[in-house]
Amino acid sequence: MKSFFIISVILFAFDVFAYDFIGKKEVELERKIDELISRMTLSEKIGQLNQLNGNGLSDNLKSQIRNGSVGTMLNEVNPEISNELQRIAVEESRLGIPLIFARDVIHGFKTVFPIPLAQAASWDEEIVKKGARIAAEEATSRGIRWTFAPMLDISRDARWGRIIESLGEDPYLASRLGVAMVEGFQGKSLSSPNGMAACLKHFCGYGAVEGGRDYNTTQISEEQLRNIYFVPFKSCINAGAATLMAAFNDLNGVPCTANRYLLNTVLRSDWNFDGVVVSDWNSVHELINHGYARDGKQAAELAVNAGVDIDMMSLDYISSLEGSVKEKVVKESVIDNAVRNILRLKFRLGLFHNPYVEIKNDVFYTPEYLEAAKESAIKSCVLLKNTDKALPLSEKIKSIAVIGPMADAPADQLGAWTMDGERQHTITPLQDLKKRYGNTIVINYVKGLDYSRDLDRKNFEAAVAAVEKSDVVLFFAGEEAGLTGEARCRADISLPGAQKDLLSEIAAAGKPIILIMLAGRPIEIYKELPLVKAFLYAWHPGTMGGPAIIDLLFGKAVPSGRLPISYPMVSAQLPYYYNHKNTGRPAVGDLVMMENMQQNEIQTSFGHTCYYLDAGRDPLYPFGYGLSYTTFRYGELNLSANDMTEQSKLTVSVPVTNTGNIMATETVQLYIRDVIASVTRPVKELKAYRKVCLKPGEEKNIVFEISIDDLKFYTANGEYRAEPGEFIVYVGANSRDVKEVSFTLK
Ligand code: BGC
Repeated sequence: MKSFFIISVILFAFDVFAYDFIGKKEVELERKIDELISRMTLSEKIGQLNQLNGNGLSDNLKSQIRNGSVGTMLNEVNPEISNELQRIAVEESRLGIPLIFARDVIHGFKTVFPIPLAQAASWDEEIVKKGARIAAEEATSRGIRWTFAPMLDISRDARWGRIIESLGEDPYLASRLGVAMVEGFQGKSLSSPNGMAACLKHFCGYGAVEGGRDYNTTQISEEQLRNIYFVPFKSCINAGAATLMAAFNDLNGVPCTANRYLLNTVLRSDWNFDGVVVSDWNSVHELINHGYARDGKQAAELAVNAGVDIDMMSLDYISSLEGSVKEKVVKESVIDNAVRNILRLKFRLGLFHNPYVEIKNDVFYTPEYLEAAKESAIKSCVLLKNTDKALPLSEKIKSIAVIGPMADAPADQLGAWTMDGERQHTITPLQDLKKRYGNTIVINYVKGLDYSRDLDRKNFEAAVAAVEKSDVVLFFAGEEAGLTGEARCRADISLPGAQKDLLSEIAAAGKPIILIMLAGRPIEIYKELPLVKAFLYAWHPGTMGGPAIIDLLFGKAVPSGRLPISYPMVSAQLPYYYNHKNTGRPAVGDLVMMENMQQNEIQTSFGHTCYYLDAGRDPLYPFGYGLSYTTFRYGELNLSANDMTEQSKLTVSVPVTNTGNIMATETVQLYIRDVIASVTRPVKELKAYRKVCLKPGEEKNIVFEISIDDLKFYTANGEYRAEPGEFIVYVGANSRDVKEVSFTLK
């Protein structure tokens, strides 16, 4: 009796505390959820964990929904169908629990924005957020209240096809832009009819698949997980992301879909995540292929016990979990927890109040959306070379040759993971050029190759003839959308098909060539680069890619994109990333290259540093790189003090001047190096950046504040702290071209 009294007092005290602390609303919500769970049968609970793919209005699907055997669905984008399915769930199932409809709305729904990797090149949270918001406005109008985005996998290997979906190689940049995407997708309130739950994927380490081969194994140390791979996930969870997806890959011997350390220890215990965890497509069943589960039943047990709430399409949960609970291999409380997470999301999305999508006339591709997609594409393009100021082009130019398979490839310019965007709404560079300049400039268009992999040279002669009669050449090269994305990895990331040959044949005509690359990854190009005067990286730029590119080529807009990844010289350098460790034998100074070696060269010390004899040490372009139509001068760095303590802050300032005659935006980047630490630290880490617009001749003093948080990292024993000692601060236009100062943390 006494202990009952004590427990009651504790519970009461907790209640009061909880009311104060997490807020009355949250406590009431949890009570509602618990009350609903108390009325559910075990099979209804497991039904909530089952996610099915859209399949029209089949009788089978209807009866499964009616029986309470389906909790969420993906890929049903017809609102008439989804409303009918929802009606069955709400009116005909025993407890009337609504469904959620999900979809991969990755970089736009109908109005397609540049691929995420391109958006990352904007380094611009505002436009990234706007893109996600527009995607949500369009998708929710079709009943999609949950997107499987953003993808936060740190990607250091351009061979991996899914690099297109990533926000690049840097954890800080991916965090800032990932948060912007989450805020954009979820909107002001998840419960409003246009709120769309975000899903952070793929947890974790999927971008590190060995050899850049999709679905491959990953081996990542705890130190690298905590300091690199987890970082954007944690930031986005702190920003309120509603859901997360477990990855396909095996991480250090345990597939992510059954990884208790990831899903329980890190996600739930360390980070207090109370959202939904969904498996990847069929990844529960694939535990068998991994050699981790002997059959679907064991796969379901392992996944649910590890913390995967929803089984996407493997059907192992629905077919076996009831038996596993009865056999006590899975506790019912584990199932209850998963259901609790799912119901919480359904409440947060307001689906219990407003389960249906209001069917109205489609509002897609509005002028506002198209303008934003164009702005996003402009900001995503990166100018990588501009010899003799070949760009911008003069509007007075008389004739232009337009050559190449990507000049007029509407579907390809939309990029991978375009599920709903339509090619007939795409404006290609050729279309826009003709529309705007067709009356004043002679446009000699010869595709040369039908598509990026085409090997047929039958049109080469016509291409050369077009070039010969033109003042300048726009060569639109790249890779088709189908060569990028999931399961589209390439061992050789150079220009596919006969594009290299086409380029060298037209180059023989001696006309200035502007190379515009439309691709989902950095394309190996160093051998062909001398043939071109200018090189503009347009990625797969989406619906409005054409007008964006033409604006940039004619100087109606100024390039401002910066590489969100290191651009490799050759595929064989991969994985490559700027924030690498220094090693015991860093390659510094002039390197001996293979062509400079003697015949019968004996083994001498030049071979004892970290580089390739045939590809050197550096990428073609460093992380953060990008040119403008103007130039910027960086003055000396000014540090507010030479020492810093846990409590104090430092400021570092740098005067940046626009030394050209065009107004333009510079992205001022700040990197820090911890010189000596208890675990080896990267040679540089991005810690801040500022986009600044400067008029011709204008100078601004850019001031950054450095606090103790910028110096913290996870130590070998998992502590997050800063260690006293010397730090170097680098500020500059990219990760290579920087000025430096140092200070001491006392
Ligand atoms: C992908 C996920 C995607 C899911 C649903 C999987 O193949 O890995 O990123 O969200 O399919 O389409």
